[in-house]
Amino acid sequence: MIRIFTVAAAVLLGAGVVAAQDANQGRTVMKANGKVMGAVLSPMVKGEKPYDQAAVNDALAQLEETVKKLPTLYPVSLKNAKPDGDYSPSPKIWDEKAEFDAHIANFGKAVGEAKGKIKDIDTLKASLPAIGKQCSGCHETFRIKNG
Ligand code: HEC
Repeated sequence: MIRIFTVAAAVLLGAGVVAAQDANQGRTVMKANGKVMGAVLSPMVKGEKPYDQAAVNDALAQLEETVKKLPTLYPVSLKNAKPDGDYSPSPKIWDEKAEFDAHIANFGKAVGEAKGKIKDIDTLKASLPAIGKQCSGCHETFRIKNG
């Protein structure tokens, strides 16, 4: 009998650990996006860092990876999950799924268009706002600040 309880407890604990990891899977990806925008691309645009094509290519690869991951990043099991940190996914991700999917598609379009265009500081300056607009556009509706 004791053995059965122990197994049941282990299963429950295991499930808890998996859920906790999942709650942060979006956050992990988003933090990496914040890093490439805030620490790589924006400083180049502002002239705080020299233009670096390899770093730009890596940054765009990270954004492309995000476009690919976004459709599976927020499964319905995470609807009421609270990631660590300052933000959570809004329930609208699941309640207004068609709109969320449209944001992902537009973000993908902006990243795809930028990828073919960014070759120097001027083209970076011209292309970055379209990407930034997609970040904030999705956050406005689908990200909530933890209170
Ligand atoms: C299609 C929607 C969508 C797009 C596009 C998007 N995000 Fe997010 N982002 C979210 C959601 C939802 C959250 C909050 C939930 C979470 O962290 O999983 C979030 C959270 C964040 C966070 C906070 C992470 C933390 O520390 O908790 C950062 C930083 C961020 N996004 C950066 C970006 C940047 C930069 C871009 C554009 C290059 C971007 N995001 C594009 C949906 C999006």
